[in-house]
Amino acid sequence: MHGDIAAVARSPMHSRRKFLKQLSGTAFAVTASPTLLAWAAEGGSIGFPGEDGMIVRSFRFVDLETPVEYLNTWLTPVPHFFVRNHMHEPSQLDPQEWRLSIGGEVDKPFVLTLSELPKLEMHSVVNTLECAGNGRSLHRPQVPGIQWGKGAVSTARFSGPRLRDVLERAGVKSTGKHVMFRGLDEVPGKVPAFIRSIPIEKALDADTLIATHMNGAPLTKHHGFPARALVPGWIGAASCKWLTDIKVLDAEFVGNFMSPGYRFPNQPVNPGDTVKPEDTHVLTGLNVKSVISGPLDGTNLRPGKVAVHGAAWAGEADIVRVDVSIDGGTTWKPAILGHDQARYAWRLWTYEWKAAAGDYVILSRATDSTGRTQPATPAWNPSGYLYNAFDQVKIHVA
Ligand code: MTE
Repeated sequence: MHGDIAAVARSPMHSRRKFLKQLSGTAFAVTASPTLLAWAAEGGSIGFPGEDGMIVRSFRFVDLETPVEYLNTWLTPVPHFFVRNHMHEPSQLDPQEWRLSIGGEVDKPFVLTLSELPKLEMHSVVNTLECAGNGRSLHRPQVPGIQWGKGAVSTARFSGPRLRDVLERAGVKSTGKHVMFRGLDEVPGKVPAFIRSIPIEKALDADTLIATHMNGAPLTKHHGFPARALVPGWIGAASCKWLTDIKVLDAEFVGNFMSPGYRFPNQPVNPGDTVKPEDTHVLTGLNVKSVISGPLDGTNLRPGKVAVHGAAWAGEADIVRVDVSIDGGTTWKPAILGHDQARYAWRLWTYEWKAAAGDYVILSRATDSTGRTQPATPAWNPSGYLYNAFDQVKIHVA
């Protein structure tokens, strides 16, 4: 199949649009097709962050998943950082022309240019960004939406001015209760624009940023160049990319991506049941969760030392322990947590084990500082959000 794709890419008979249409909805690893990559890079309308095996979950709007084996560094290199777009990325982004307006329920609305942003005090936050739909494909029964596996999550050091400093300069009125972000996405047809809001308390938090940099370099286009909101510990959807408008509102923004999008049932739901909109709430902070980044599911290993390793995160809370089971959940042993740590960032973990011949089901289970522990079964919900059951890999030792 990958050979076919490369052949189609080379063929002058096929237009880019037709080619993309053929691929739309197909997931495959970018590494499998270097020709495709070269072709895509040349064209410019869709560029991929690297040739490093990112999983393409959607070509229509760029949606790239990080392979689980890449979730093994504390900071994710930008080319391996997952990408989630609801619509087309802005095709034109002239840094000279870019403006960020701050208005709404404020005393002194104003507009910032890109050259003015670095004059504000810069602040850095290492944040694990996870899409609310990460793990959606693992829910049973399956639910519609991008079928993310385990890798719609990554960690980076985000830097930029504090949102608070900008809001304070504008002077938030006492009527200001929510802060709305709008990006420069190109909205196809009648699709509603990607606009959401966060409560004023989170907007004024010292760690909520207007991020301009990721791992020390200016944001790339996929991640929101020239500036994005960074709402640490919250679902990725809160962190609006290609930011152009910040508006203080007297109430939560009303729109598709606040309702029915990104809402979670107030009560547990039987898998497959429907839920009334009034019985749901807007998603905010992330769940406690861990993934096993090695050994990979389905691997054959030789007897001897095996380092089971992975990452664990908990949104606004801290990871306090990760336990590993090599017998499908009958017994659990604590993993060793890596020393790199920061509020909102994942902890890497390792569990060393001397493997004898046999078949094994290895599980990981994280616990956080608020007492939350990953469940054996996920909380099913109609949109497949916040999947966080124990992670699992099966291996064969011989
Ligand atoms: N911002 C805009 N303007 N448009 C989008 O589609 N997607 C959101 C968020 N910000 C999105 C956006 C979602 S759902 C996620 S998970 C994160 O961006 C992903 O950020 P990343 O692509 O930098 O990983």
